[in-house]
Amino acid sequence: MTTVPDAGFPGPGQRPVQQDGSAHDEADAAVVLEARGLGRDYAVPRGMLRAVDEVSFRLRRGRTLAVVGESGCGKSTLARMATLLERPSRGELLLAGQETTALHGRARRALGLSVQMVFQNPFGALNPRQSVGATLREPLAINRRGTRPEQAEAAREMMRRVGLRPEQEARTPHAFSGGQRQRIAIARALMLRPPVVVADEPVSALDVSIQAQVLNLLLDLQSEFGLAYLFISHDLAVVRHVADEVMVMYLGRVAEHGPAAAVLRQPRHPYTQALLAATPSLDPARRAPVPLAGEMPSPVAPPSGCAFAARCPRAEPVCRAERPALRAVAGRLASCHFAETTASATAGTHGVA
Ligand SMILES: Nc1ncnc2c1ncn2[C@@H]1O[C@H](COP(=O)(O)OP(=O)(O)OP(=O)(O)O)[C@@H](O)[C@H]1O
Ligand code: SF4
Ligand SMILES: [Mg+2]
Repeated sequence: MTTVPDAGFPGPGQRPVQQDGSAHDEADAAVVLEARGLGRDYAVPRGMLRAVDEVSFRLRRGRTLAVVGESGCGKSTLARMATLLERPSRGELLLAGQETTALHGRARRALGLSVQMVFQNPFGALNPRQSVGATLREPLAINRRGTRPEQAEAAREMMRRVGLRPEQEARTPHAFSGGQRQRIAIARALMLRPPVVVADEPVSALDVSIQAQVLNLLLDLQSEFGLAYLFISHDLAVVRHVADEVMVMYLGRVAEHGPAAAVLRQPRHPYTQALLAATPSLDPARRAPVPLAGEMPSPVAPPSGCAFAARCPRAEPVCRAERPALRAVAGRLASCHFAETTASATAGTHGVA
């Protein structure tokens, strides 16, 4: 079992010193979601696939932990465990301080209400034949919250809150644009006022022009309701916009994890550096993106040393022989044998600055 990575960097409730030099005053914000050495295996025809391994984090009230990494690195598997849709194979998951892995039946379902999910494709979460009003009333009705008129008013109020017109409550999802449908999905996720929302690529399917509107809505709702977000995205520009902390995953494990400013501006893990270099910059004066070469190894037969060694420009013989531990370096955690000396000369010149 790994310990929780609380060593050396400010946690989600402890944003780094702000631009005006003041320290953030929410260092003690409650931990609402915690993972301790979380792992998930799948039995596949070729053997055991290790989708997530030794992932630990603490997410505090009102904060956003972004999870990034290439396709197949385990982001959605982590999301399904965090929302209690799947049980971990190893480790512990705590919601509001309560361990969930041993819970079953009603107790597990009740605790599961405190973490809701927003998916990439809102159609997956919305019943196409159900009106928006009914969609939003349903979680309240199922969980017997309030009278029918109160449920109807709460649904209309939430429509207003997410930027939809309550007069449109009788319409079905097809009558709305993609961005509006994602607003409906977000509204539904919030009807039971969960303290935690897991958003798995919530804006990836939207036009770029709509993405910022939905991200800003998520930020507004976060400050209004004190929401904590586990925010999954492959888009580092999006992550930059929303994250307090960034956790970079590679082949199911944590490569680098720390305050967003440290990880995105001065990455210490060569994989984070490569991800940033592969992100197109909004500023044309900056360097062109450098595509990330090679592919992730198979999670069924992971390499014995560093999983990134075959693609890493800094790899040394020790990298193939010994797996680097995740350890505190320069105000974050990084799993690289040479994290002390990998401060990127290109930091800040790519993509998300
Ligand atoms: N139910 C399952 N059965 C077997 N293997 C699975 C299952 N779910 C996920 N995997 C495997 O686990 C690994 C992690 O998958 P996951 O979907 O969590 O990745 P991801 O980071 O969300 O990728 P993407 O960015 O493409 O959504 C992949 O190798 C995937 O093939
Ligand atoms: S441990 Fe070695 S191979 Fe792995 S990221 Fe660091 S330098 Fe590269
Ligand atoms: Mg996924």
